[in-house]
Amino acid sequence: MTILNADLTVKRGQATMVERIALRVAAGQSVTLIGETGSGKSLFAQAILGTLPPGLHAQGTLHIEGAPVALDDPKALASFWGHAISVLPQEPWRALDPLMRAKQQVAEVHRLVAGNTDAAAAASEDLAALGLGQAAERYPFELSGGMAQRLAIAAARAGGGRIVVADEPTKGLDLARRDEVAQRLKRVTDDGGALLTITHDLALAAALGGEILVLRKGQLIERGPAEQVLKTPADPYTAELIAAEPRHWQKTPSARRGTPVLSAQGVTVERGGRQLFESLDLVLHAGEVVGLCGPSGVGKSSLGDTLLGITAPATGQVTRGNGHARMRFQKLWQDPPAAFAPHLALGQGLDDLMALQGIPRDRLPPLLERLRLEKGLLARKPDAVSGGELQRLSMARALLLEPVFLFADEPTSRLDPLTQRDVIQMLTSLARDRGIAVLLVSHDPKLIDSVTDRQIAL
Ligand SMILES: Nc1ncnc2c1ncn2[C@@H]1O[C@H](COP(=O)(O)OP(=O)(O)OP(=O)(O)O)[C@@H](O)[C@H]1O
Ligand SMILES: [Mg+2]
Repeated sequence: MTILNADLTVKRGQATMVERIALRVAAGQSVTLIGETGSGKSLFAQAILGTLPPGLHAQGTLHIEGAPVALDDPKALASFWGHAISVLPQEPWRALDPLMRAKQQVAEVHRLVAGNTDAAAAASEDLAALGLGQAAERYPFELSGGMAQRLAIAAARAGGGRIVVADEPTKGLDLARRDEVAQRLKRVTDDGGALLTITHDLALAAALGGEILVLRKGQLIERGPAEQVLKTPADPYTAELIAAEPRHWQKTPSARRGTPVLSAQGVTVERGGRQLFESLDLVLHAGEVVGLCGPSGVGKSSLGDTLLGITAPATGQVTRGNGHARMRFQKLWQDPPAAFAPHLALGQGLDDLMALQGIPRDRLPPLLERLRLEKGLLARKPDAVSGGELQRLSMARALLLEPVFLFADEPTSRLDPLTQRDVIQMLTSLARDRGIAVLLVSHDPKLIDSVTDRQIAL
């Protein structure tokens, strides 16, 4: 039986944002959307969920559990959330209540949506299964990016909806966690549910199997069984996308190390009274790209905050050298929305920054071009661009400040493999040409291996 049947187009006024895509997902079936960042994957999912941004609308037909639903009635669509459809949005923070502890978030859904009388026990079980048992009493802001991602999954699944829509459920997760999430998503189809996943992670797409749809520039360019599309792609773009995965990258030669830019001696970092790691020593030199690895929640982002002077170390000392202004020690946020004010047009935020810091305005256009960002995006607010576009805009923001040190926290987690490869190449060549010291966090060991000179493991 088909439990999700969508045949729709997404429009903005007369303009077509996503050309017609017809999708039928039967009980026990998995459909995965892959493709270019900004190609319309999230918009397609949002049309089904009734969460399209203002000004955009969907045309076509939608059937949920066999019943027709009006695409232009967000209230009717919202009534399916939790009960019939579980939703995992692209930004986990948008799915979580900042004022509620982790376990309570999941228990509420068990109680209110699924009507479970022992919601607390069910919530504890879910958290344990996702490796979040220790974090049950923490608030979202006390969680790492990967942990928040897993919490959002637990909360979404607690409602028990048969249809699961997951937008990049594994971004920012290490390989072990990614496999766990893949197993959890597979359980949806094993239990007779329907799964619609959006991902840039081709290994996840392969693990989920089912049908794959490839999108580019608002168009469906290829579809077919997962194995066929991934092993023998018919469209040249799909082939390029697959070839751009980090495991196919060539090792880039090491840079010549410049003078030390930043050093840490005996640094111990604590968060919420817990010690994350102790007595870390490191020196970073101009022009070198160093990898930072370690499992989700180990304290990679916290180390970054300590190196940047945003938080103080519990013991030890960080020296940011050579008389450079504080502004030139920058980070690329793991969570791109955090880099921008939500109610301000993106371009306005960048203009204000350039005015405040006395940065010549002609520095911006070439950066946008190298990051493959269109100028038109600047007129929009952060919630009106795609996840990958916002990630690259936050990179442009940091690079405008001509950093001498960059803490790059999963800087390409929201990009398709092809765009990821270009952006990482740009970042490493900038590091070499301009002598930026880059500390690069990624959960992809192949990526880290091929572009870094050395690695620090936490
Ligand atoms: N509110 C909006 N107004 C105008 N354009 C928008 C709006 N929201 C998104 N877009 C544009 O629609 C296009 C498709 O966006 P969408 O979020 O679906 O991309 P995506 O395929 O999910 O990309 P990513 O992989 O980067 O998340 C993008 O170019 C984006 O800038
Ligand atoms: Mg998206």
